[in-house]
Amino acid sequence: MAERALTRKKGLGSYYTDPRVVDFLVEWGMGVSPGLVMDPSCGDGRFPEAAARRGASRIIGCDLDPDALESSARTLCDAEMPSKLLDSDFFLLDPNRIGPVDLVVGNPPFIRYQQFSGKSRARALGSALRVGARLTNLSASWAPFLLHSLQFLRPGGALAMVVPAELAQTGYGVTTLRALCANFSRIRLVTFRRNWFADAQQEIFFLLAEGRGGSCVAAQLTPLDRIDELSQLVLRKRMDGIYHLSLDGDPTLGLAFLDSFTRDLWAELKSRPQALTLEALGGVINGYVSGANTFFHCTREEAVKRRSYGGGLLKLEPSEMQRIPVILPTSTEEELRDHFDAADRAIRAGDFSAANQIANRVILEDQLGLSVADLGILQQAHATLLDRRMARARSNAS
Ligand SMILES: C[S@@+](CC[C@H](N)C(=O)[O-])C[C@H]1O[C@@H](n2cnc3c(N)ncnc32)[C@H](O)[C@@H]1O
Repeated sequence: MAERALTRKKGLGSYYTDPRVVDFLVEWGMGVSPGLVMDPSCGDGRFPEAAARRGASRIIGCDLDPDALESSARTLCDAEMPSKLLDSDFFLLDPNRIGPVDLVVGNPPFIRYQQFSGKSRARALGSALRVGARLTNLSASWAPFLLHSLQFLRPGGALAMVVPAELAQTGYGVTTLRALCANFSRIRLVTFRRNWFADAQQEIFFLLAEGRGGSCVAAQLTPLDRIDELSQLVLRKRMDGIYHLSLDGDPTLGLAFLDSFTRDLWAELKSRPQALTLEALGGVINGYVSGANTFFHCTREEAVKRRSYGGGLLKLEPSEMQRIPVILPTSTEEELRDHFDAADRAIRAGDFSAANQIANRVILEDQLGLSVADLGILQQAHATLLDRRMARARSNAS
């Protein structure tokens, strides 16, 4: 893609949605709250068109890109559906003048805070505050977009949206999730082992929120392996494999994929007096970004082992670095130097597993006194999370 077009695409967050995902979200949404459907960032009109096909009574679409709106108009004209298309910044729309609608469905723009600025951001953060979320200036556009969207719904209405996994991985994401839980009687997040937006390197959830006006204490997370499992979910045949995402404390998405035994062990380890955070030892000034190209210093395989954006890209904000758990050593300086030297030799020889074993023995066994069984549980948890990331990185590459 030409550079100018790519910059424009990024600036508008224009990553269009796979038709299978569009169908799933519209089918689910119209199943729980049929009638007047709104897509607040409708792009080429694929969500409105799917809603028209499934018998929506009326459609409202909004987008600030005139080219996108033109394609929406053509799509809806072909579908012969009564519709209103609004050429506007969504944050300028007043819910009291447009609403109430039965269903809001779509894929909000993912514009990072560096590009999301000025009056539009000020309006967006003001709207989020109206539904109880104090978002910081570091918030990307999708977060206030969801919170502005819900204000257009009638009591009992539903919201079905593509959202980045940052909803459960970052501070502002969890603030948004808390506000969603305070405004809907049920929140479900569907997650996949594959990547849906390879060119955006973004892990996503499908957000299914129903019962506007109600509230719930936690979001339910359903991991799926295959696309055809989505239709089973719509038919409500498959309700197993659901985890509850805690809204207290730090974001804990990884823990949601582990069993309760492992989660308890992790909580116990973190509560030990020897377990500190990086922040307790000093200030964190820089974050960390790495990825799968020659500019970055680690390989794709290494990068996906840590928190990834969905592919080989790793990103740790300073606030996330601050919370990384560390165990203070009790060994003598000399012993420590020997361990470091041995681990360093292993890493330089490319033997990461040998270096890992040294660290496990010194930190987890000798220092924290973990049993072989507990060590096995932690290693299994690491393998489970690594497998999820590798699966996403593979689907990115394919
Ligand atoms: C992720 S795309 C989604 C397009 C389409 N709904 C889909 O899923 O295929 C985001 C869309 O949001 C539009 N957009 C960006 N900022 C907006 C804003 N403040 N108000 C309304 N639309 C906006 C972009 O022009 C783009 O069409």
